[in-house]
Amino acid sequence: MEKKTVFSGIQPSGELHLGNYYGAIQNWVRLQDRFDCVYCIVDYHAVTGRTGRESDKFQDPRHESLATMSVQMAGDLMACGIDPRRSILFVQSHVPEHTELAWVFSCVASHGDLTRMIQFKDKADRSDYVSVGLFIYPVLQAADILLYRAAKVPVGEDQVQHLELARRIGRRFNTLVGEEYFPEVEAELTAGKRIMSLADPAHKMSKSLGDKHYVGLMEEPDAIWKKVRSAVTDSGEQVGGEMSPGVANLFEILRLTGAVDDVVDGFKAQHAAGKIRYGDLKTAVQDHIMRVLDPIRERRSRMSDDEIRDTLAAGAARASEIAKATMAGVRARVGVGPPPR
Ligand code: TRP
Repeated sequence: MEKKTVFSGIQPSGELHLGNYYGAIQNWVRLQDRFDCVYCIVDYHAVTGRTGRESDKFQDPRHESLATMSVQMAGDLMACGIDPRRSILFVQSHVPEHTELAWVFSCVASHGDLTRMIQFKDKADRSDYVSVGLFIYPVLQAADILLYRAAKVPVGEDQVQHLELARRIGRRFNTLVGEEYFPEVEAELTAGKRIMSLADPAHKMSKSLGDKHYVGLMEEPDAIWKKVRSAVTDSGEQVGGEMSPGVANLFEILRLTGAVDDVVDGFKAQHAAGKIRYGDLKTAVQDHIMRVLDPIRERRSRMSDDEIRDTLAAGAARASEIAKATMAGVRARVGVGPPPR
């Protein structure tokens, strides 16, 4: 039986953190056992982040180029367990059919639907310059997915609306050409709670909050300990009371990083009795984080940029084959491209 295709994308945003790992990447790694997976570093999507202000430059000397960040991201993903021998790992701009199909889809998608995208509204409200690219961001996302006829797309809650739009675009394309050319895509929601910021557990872990809020996967153990040690908790004295968000977050990290039940239950009992020592809990959290991160950092340190670039070139070649075939079919159905002789 043919395996279904899974597709997902991630922006080359720099260093991955624990929230990304447990919120997405670990799931990507596991899906490789059951599906043909295509994982894409979406650099063209990231361009929208560099054009949100009148004063922005595509290439700002204060930031790495998207090309450099894409190589970094690919290395980090492989260190986490994305296996380029089994899955296709590539960079979006290396396969130009993504943007080509996005144009066709921009002629298929409804303007009204796009104006209802929550992420667009949020970002547009916070930007002083709103590009058309930001507006049609989800159209490019639909092209990413449908180029590979993916059936499943692992994403977080915040992308469900974009996935629904991709389905609508696929359906409308099918109606326009009178044929089921694109399959139905389905979001595969990543289970499990989100990891929250260590310094402000009301918000989910994210780099944009600032350095002390997240644990980078490639950070030095000392730097991580500094953040874990100063993570927000509470006084620890209320008996049987509800767990504060910061403490609940530490327990969640402990569970996700694979602490055995005995360890977690022991701390829970101490907490319920109002006798927990947060220093001990944090030491356990740090130990378990490092047990997960040590092998990842080790694998990453053995990779060279050249090696990663070669892997990405091979990934783009495999992706191209599929993308070219899909796009040839699209051109033929739209009635453009060189006429057949
Ligand atoms: N918009 C997604 C995000 O911000 C990234 C993305 C781009 C994506 N294209 C995709 C995710 C295709 C899944 C499928 O997380």
